[in-house]
Amino acid sequence: MSQPRVLSGIQPTNGSFHLGNYLGAVKQWVDLQESHDAFYCVVDLHALTSSPDPKELRQNTLTSIAQLLALGVDPEHCTLFVQSHVPQHNQLGWIMECLTGFGEASRMTQFKDKTSKVGNDRIGVGVFTYPMLMAADILLYQADQVPVGEDQRQHIELTRDLATRFNSTYGNTFRIPEGYIMKEGAKIYDLQEPTSKMSKSADSLNGLIEILDTPEANTKKIKSAVTDTGREVKFDSVEKPGISNLLTIFSTLSGRTVASIETDFEGKGYGDFKGAVAEVVVEYLRPVRTKTLELLDDKAHLASILKVGAEKAEEVAAKTLADVYERIGLVARG
Ligand code: TRP
Repeated sequence: MSQPRVLSGIQPTNGSFHLGNYLGAVKQWVDLQESHDAFYCVVDLHALTSSPDPKELRQNTLTSIAQLLALGVDPEHCTLFVQSHVPQHNQLGWIMECLTGFGEASRMTQFKDKTSKVGNDRIGVGVFTYPMLMAADILLYQADQVPVGEDQRQHIELTRDLATRFNSTYGNTFRIPEGYIMKEGAKIYDLQEPTSKMSKSADSLNGLIEILDTPEANTKKIKSAVTDTGREVKFDSVEKPGISNLLTIFSTLSGRTVASIETDFEGKGYGDFKGAVAEVVVEYLRPVRTKTLELLDDKAHLASILKVGAEKAEEVAAKTLADVYERIGLVARG
């Protein structure tokens, strides 16, 4: 395979993905699968660090997979799998832990942030070792690039450090991956608070466009999006954050330029504009929602897709792990 390899992981989301997840991460996955040898996983083991309810975790993992498929992640063009289906992740994870310094792990900002919120006595050891499991996810596949958001930059740095350390101690084993920090191109903001990023942790769900919401619910949310008191449909993220956000959404989903949309709405009011945005969003998401629900309705089919993905992933992962075991001095089982 001469295409560069990418690996990325996404946490199983509670319920639906929102438009920000899609335009920020999933769309890039879909684009990269054409030009790269892509491995994508839903990281259910990482999700255990927040002690989810078992039924919800299982449902969230399947719903995340179904949404990825419905949004265009194509198992014919990439390897899509569930992290826990490939046991080598845990196995290499342990080796990464043995390679990491306590101080080094203690300095990870995500760990420090979470610890400062819940305190030393309540923070799980899984939150501490999270980055080592993530390093294993990446290194098992000899990934060249790792598409992630800006918040994951430090984890990628640690992964590179651990790979370099392993290679220099035990001989060249891992490819050193590069972070492929996803472009902030289409940053999508909350509809009610258009200066904050669209996020599930917002105070109200009214600012969130959820992929699995009904067309009626999303239409209603868009029509009640916060705008300014002016009347011109013009991109100006400082003076008109609400209108600008709607323009970004319209432009990204329709493939039209912001300028051409502005021209269309010259002399028309915000009401007309919001109606048009709602239509674009609803028509874009309608088939995605239908497809996701269809996939979730046929669990056997979904399971068969995941089986193929796990087998393809394990083939690569097992080879890397065997090399690692050998180099590090474990006796072969024979
Ligand atoms: N930590 C990542 C996040 O929270 C998820 C993740 C786990 C990941 N393993 C990965 C991302 C491997 C890229 C590669 O977004």
